[in-house]
Amino acid sequence: MDWLNLILMLTLAAGNTELLVSFVNRTHGLKINCGWLRHIRHIHDLALLLFPVLFFVFVGLRGPGLIWGGSWSDLSIWWKIYVALCACGVAGLVNSMIRWWCHRNPKCVTSTSSTVVDIVEQLQSRPLMDGPFFWMTRFPLNEIFQVEYSEKDVVLPRLPREWDGLTVLHLSDFHFIGTVTKPFFERALTIAMEKSADLVVFTGDLLDDPKLIEWFPDTLGQLDATLGRFYVLGNHDWEIDPPRTRNALDELGWTDVGGKTTSLQHANSELVIGGSECPWMGNPPDFSADNVDTFRILLSHTPDNFNWAIQQGVDLILSGHNHGGQVVLPVVGPVYAPSIHGVRYAGGAFWQSSTFLHVNRGLSGRYPLRWRCFPEISRLVLRSSKTT
Ligand SMILES: [Fe+2]
Repeated sequence: MDWLNLILMLTLAAGNTELLVSFVNRTHGLKINCGWLRHIRHIHDLALLLFPVLFFVFVGLRGPGLIWGGSWSDLSIWWKIYVALCACGVAGLVNSMIRWWCHRNPKCVTSTSSTVVDIVEQLQSRPLMDGPFFWMTRFPLNEIFQVEYSEKDVVLPRLPREWDGLTVLHLSDFHFIGTVTKPFFERALTIAMEKSADLVVFTGDLLDDPKLIEWFPDTLGQLDATLGRFYVLGNHDWEIDPPRTRNALDELGWTDVGGKTTSLQHANSELVIGGSECPWMGNPPDFSADNVDTFRILLSHTPDNFNWAIQQGVDLILSGHNHGGQVVLPVVGPVYAPSIHGVRYAGGAFWQSSTFLHVNRGLSGRYPLRWRCFPEISRLVLRSSKTT
């Protein structure tokens, strides 16, 4: 047996996987409805298994017989093209892994702290009912009930000095679907509100089951903030009667900023909050009517709008959507994230030009499975660098 060829073939199979995962990630970042996305995932599942098996049978064992010491130069032109594509996949995988391992909080994040709370321990029972994908909840080491409460101090250069210490409770991706029960969300939010917040924001993906709109009053309806509660909807909400969802949230006193901006006066300065539900709904918010010196916050369901926000002079962009990847493999990092950037913005803090991006991993998900990727509730404490 030729061990070197075998290792090379296994590496190329990993490249094949990376190419297919990249395709799925990027298509899931586009405005494509869930029916088509399901077809894409089925093609991905099939190709993920089929191509490596064909490769090992027709190139490794038969044909040039690479596993038995055959020569790569004897491959047919089609297998050579396939090998070249897989080699590109390997390069992409290595690049993604290096970026994951090298990622650190940007310098503007001056302190971080977090605690993980086991909601099962708090409730003395597993908050589950027999909903979709229930079988996933049985996977060992599943972390769906271990909520991480993270707090980050972030220095933002344009934040008015009078606003130093402004707090933002960032919530995202609840995905009410009927597998994880309402007491989980109630308990997680009760703990979140033990510390007060000036702003509470929700960055989309609330409903996967329209009946569970009845959970709103006991969950999002219980939150309070001195300067207000603001939200955008996400791609899962787009599939389920968004006007009805908006009405329910508006009745609870939440402010819809999807596709628009709203301004707030606070401590003699103005704050503008805009929301983007692009590419799924509406248009991006128009910040051009506001004074260029006004501090700007953007709620954007997907972090894919980061570059657009930079061009608009947004100071702080708050996003969700990618769930931290939900499954974070040792060495490799997160694999799946529904983004045109793949797993680059799966979760965490990022800084570019003069814009700070915070991607919350979400409190739940359509699929009740998390490994090495706790559900998250985050509280940002904004700090001013202005001394006069
Ligand atoms: Fe989501």
